[in-house]
Amino acid sequence: VLGGTSELTRAAFDFLCMPLFHARFRREFELAPANSRSGAHTRSDLLLCGRDWNTLIVGKLSQWIDADSEIETERRNSEAALAQELNFSAYLGLPVFMIPLKGPHCANLARLLLNHIHTGHHTSNFWIRVPLMASEDMREDLIENEPSTCVDDTSVDEKTWSWWHSFRTLCDYNKRVSIEVAADMPSDAVIDKWLGEPIKAAILPTSIFLTNKKGFPVLSKAHQRIIFSLFKLEAQFIFTGTTRHTEKNFQSYLQYLEYLNQNRPAPNSYELFAKGYEDYLQSPLQPLMDNLESQTYEVFEKDPIKYSQYQQAVYKCLLDRVPEDQKDTNVQVLMVLGAGRGPLVNASLRAARQADRKLKVYAVEKNPNAVITLENWRFEEWGDQVTVVSCDMRDWAAPEKADIIVSELLGSFGDNELSPECLDGAQHFLKDDGVSIPSSYTSFLAPLSSSKLYNEVRGCRERDKDPECHFETPYVVRLHNFHQLAERKRTRLV
Ligand SMILES: C[S@@+](CC[C@H](N)C(=O)[O-])C[C@H]1O[C@@H](n2cnc3c(N)ncnc32)[C@H](O)[C@@H]1O
Repeated sequence: VLGGTSELTRAAFDFLCMPLFHARFRREFELAPANSRSGAHTRSDLLLCGRDWNTLIVGKLSQWIDADSEIETERRNSEAALAQELNFSAYLGLPVFMIPLKGPHCANLARLLLNHIHTGHHTSNFWIRVPLMASEDMREDLIENEPSTCVDDTSVDEKTWSWWHSFRTLCDYNKRVSIEVAADMPSDAVIDKWLGEPIKAAILPTSIFLTNKKGFPVLSKAHQRIIFSLFKLEAQFIFTGTTRHTEKNFQSYLQYLEYLNQNRPAPNSYELFAKGYEDYLQSPLQPLMDNLESQTYEVFEKDPIKYSQYQQAVYKCLLDRVPEDQKDTNVQVLMVLGAGRGPLVNASLRAARQADRKLKVYAVEKNPNAVITLENWRFEEWGDQVTVVSCDMRDWAAPEKADIIVSELLGSFGDNELSPECLDGAQHFLKDDGVSIPSSYTSFLAPLSSSKLYNEVRGCRERDKDPECHFETPYVVRLHNFHQLAERKRTRLV
């Protein structure tokens, strides 16, 4: 293996997982005389240069180590061997060290790992290896290279998730402890649950691959679905086992994953718009209290869906309100309440052209900075068709009543932009048969779990504030690495 790091990179693999000590070499730290046996416990670090250790090698803890063994001598010996391997991994400067979780009892392992992290070993990360299904739950009739079937008993499936959950809780949700799963097949509900966890890598035994007509390894549809979800989380993939596909080498597995990666469902326009903001906590805006900045409006205006939907709504509304034979005489009065830098004014004007109806627009905005942009639009593009009004809509003495009011004060959740409060103050200048776009909107609520967001919120500490207060704050988040625990529910209608 060690001779093969150049082969590894030539074959386009990014890293190699390997034990640091020989798999069958059980060291004895407790009992004499074996504890004083002389000689090196493993091979020299000189076999690779520092850069290779730092970038290409992921260390694996010896399987026999059981720091939570009920047998005291075994436990003590395991503790010493664990310390030896963790220290040697840190000495080599490995980027990641992999630790298997074998069962529900992991308190001592968590204690020792946390102690190791807290005693100055700042560099490496730890991937906790957890099977998606506990081995005794695995089906006996699973045939190699046959598509595996799903087991529906969620409570059985969730067993290993609860091992992980107690381990990471004991590790105080340390950010450097993440998870690596082996791709056996529990039910979809359990897989979804895992997708809320910090999955850094997935182990793909070669035995889960099927063989296509040309002899190449491929995955079942069910496995492909997991792989696509893991791509989204930017997980690494690790192949284990021997090459089972006749005359094909290990690279063919990698090539297959690359093929899947190229053929994964393309992101939709909304996903592209939100790129870079995934799982990023944003404080909800308060546009009534604060004056928004130019860049904030710029982000709004990049929304790929909102303005075309508004345009569509205004277009339909104009066709509803103005019959064909009045199209040259009936001028509809439309007020954009909270016009910002004018995108809804533009959408409304486009809608009027599209519907071939006459429109007079008032653009009401209380942010004096954005009003400068609106005035420039009026001067350069809109002309007299648009009147810019620089004031709070609640204080405005409108010169006439509106056929249509258009607003976009929905905010992110609940009522954070105080939309009903503002619009209530503007109702009196809407004609009795006038239309408000939107006419209603609803907030939905759903419980979710997300290790990433939990850690983000926990990291928000402020002087003189209760550390828990951030858990009571609503944030705006483009959710990504999360698991929705139940169906969303309607909260209230405005
Ligand atoms: C979410 S922004 C939308 C801006 C713009 N329609 C867009 O799509 O980019 C809401 C706008 O409403 C303005 N606003 C909020 N409350 C207002 C009020 N009471 N009167 C006038 N404008 C208000 C804010 O200054 C802000 O420009």
